[in-house]
Amino acid sequence: MEDDVEKLLIEQLKDAFSAEKQALRCMQQSARMASSPLLKMAIETHIEETKDQIGRLDEIFQAMNTKPGRKLCLAMKGLVDEAAAEAGEHESGPVLDLVITASMQRIEHYEISAYGTMVMTAEALELQPVTKVLQQTLAEEQQTEAKLAQMAKTELMTSALEDDGEEDPDQSSSSRPASSKRAPSKARSAKQSAAKPSAAKPSSAKPSSAKPSSAKSASATPAPGKPGPKTGSSSSRPAARRAR
Ligand SMILES: [Fe+2]
Repeated sequence: MEDDVEKLLIEQLKDAFSAEKQALRCMQQSARMASSPLLKMAIETHIEETKDQIGRLDEIFQAMNTKPGRKLCLAMKGLVDEAAAEAGEHESGPVLDLVITASMQRIEHYEISAYGTMVMTAEALELQPVTKVLQQTLAEEQQTEAKLAQMAKTELMTSALEDDGEEDPDQSSSSRPASSKRAPSKARSAKQSAAKPSAAKPSSAKPSSAKPSSAKSASATPAPGKPGPKTGSSSSRPAARRAR
């Protein structure tokens, strides 16, 4: 059965190889569309990391005497197609930056999940060097996702909220600086004034705690891949007897 698990890991590695290559092309397009210099820089940094990650996967294939083959990661294809479709619905500017960031976060979450599983599997097979390399990539994916989440919450969201919200088709190719301060939009002003308690109106009976919390924004980033609870004795692992 150990051979079957090793074959499973190889299939997961092939899937990850395809996923990384697709993500790389998506990020290269995203970097060209991004307006925020901060977002552009974050994408470009992760492009370089992704090239290294692809190189590391190549090294793993060589160490395991196999090749990446032509496997296509369908999940990443879906994420990348959706990223392109959603980006195509917006003109250049702060809102498109939020769209790009959201798509990138979805991609990173998928990669975090995939590498978490591969780390757990490689650990179970006691493939220490492979585990170490995969853990390095997993950490980079987690850091990238955290960086994007922080950027979206602060700089990018502020820019998008301060934007006038009108995407002028004539200005579509303009490289509007992300840091340019604009007057608050009408919608935002209305929202702010509506939020102010009015002296004339009695307060609503609805308790404030009924308002949904920001749980939606809470990251569901899984912990670095750790082996799940073992059902059998740890000494029963046959892989321990295999020299790697
Ligand atoms: Fe990534």
